[in-house]
Amino acid sequence: MDCHSYSSELVIDLDAIRANYRSIQRHVAASDCAAVVKADAYGLGAPDVAKALYNEGCRIFFVAQLCEAMEVHGSLPTNASIIILNGLDPGSENICADSGFVPVLNSESQVQHWRSLARARNTALPAALQVDTGMSRLGLSALQLQALAEDASLFDDVQLRLIMTHLACADDPGSPVNARQLREFHDLARLLPTVPRSIANSCAIGLSSDYHLEISRAGIGLYGLPPPNPCPKISPVIKLTVRVLQIRELKWDRASATASPIRRRICVVWQHWRSGTVMAGRAA
Ligand SMILES: Cc1ncc(COP(=O)(O)O)c(C=O)c1O
Repeated sequence: MDCHSYSSELVIDLDAIRANYRSIQRHVAASDCAAVVKADAYGLGAPDVAKALYNEGCRIFFVAQLCEAMEVHGSLPTNASIIILNGLDPGSENICADSGFVPVLNSESQVQHWRSLARARNTALPAALQVDTGMSRLGLSALQLQALAEDASLFDDVQLRLIMTHLACADDPGSPVNARQLREFHDLARLLPTVPRSIANSCAIGLSSDYHLEISRAGIGLYGLPPPNPCPKISPVIKLTVRVLQIRELKWDRASATASPIRRRICVVWQHWRSGTVMAGRAA
């Protein structure tokens, strides 16, 4: 017996992902919309998603790790930039440079290792810099960035493609933390005035055009989950079909353990319970 004919089916609509990209790019206007394709493009298949978005005009792709960069590398032409958010794992500098990947330098030691390699190769190597303005995840402190910006030889070793930070509360449009992080980021980015800036993930793209800057970094919005402040039109990108096992009439509400005579019609479906199911259900 074929088990699969009784299973669920998840259809990933690459055209819808492309349409969401167009919509977000139109919304951010002068900002360059980059695609975050980390975690296998949020489970939707990074190589295919990256190729579809490249064909839609996207030229900057963010992944989290080197292995993810390797995965999308083969499906993208050489004029696409692949930026690694987690930066340089110790020992990965050579492969990163050989492949033309752009690491996000998140710490002084990552900066030092990248600069040493640049000097050894006698060439400036591409990189992004992340500064922590309140997310408390990855990035240089304000003081570390200031010290780096005062070092006139920095640009001999590093071609700075981007300076970035990440918002802690972008999913809460009313949070004062958003504006505070934006102000702090402007102050710090002014130290490197020629370098393109990036602060916005999908939620921040919906906050206001103040957050768009030169490069925006859209992830979940591309994949169909509209931000709470959904300025760009976002469409679902997946269709989940699950098998109905049984339709039943319930005569009382068992969940609340009362015997009140509530009649309910329920549908029992065959779907494994994983976080992917929750995300798919919210997006659809
Ligand atoms: C640094 C950074 N920028 C952008 C994104 C994309 O965020 P979102 O999926 O909310 O658009 C992420 C995702 O976690 C991220 O870590």
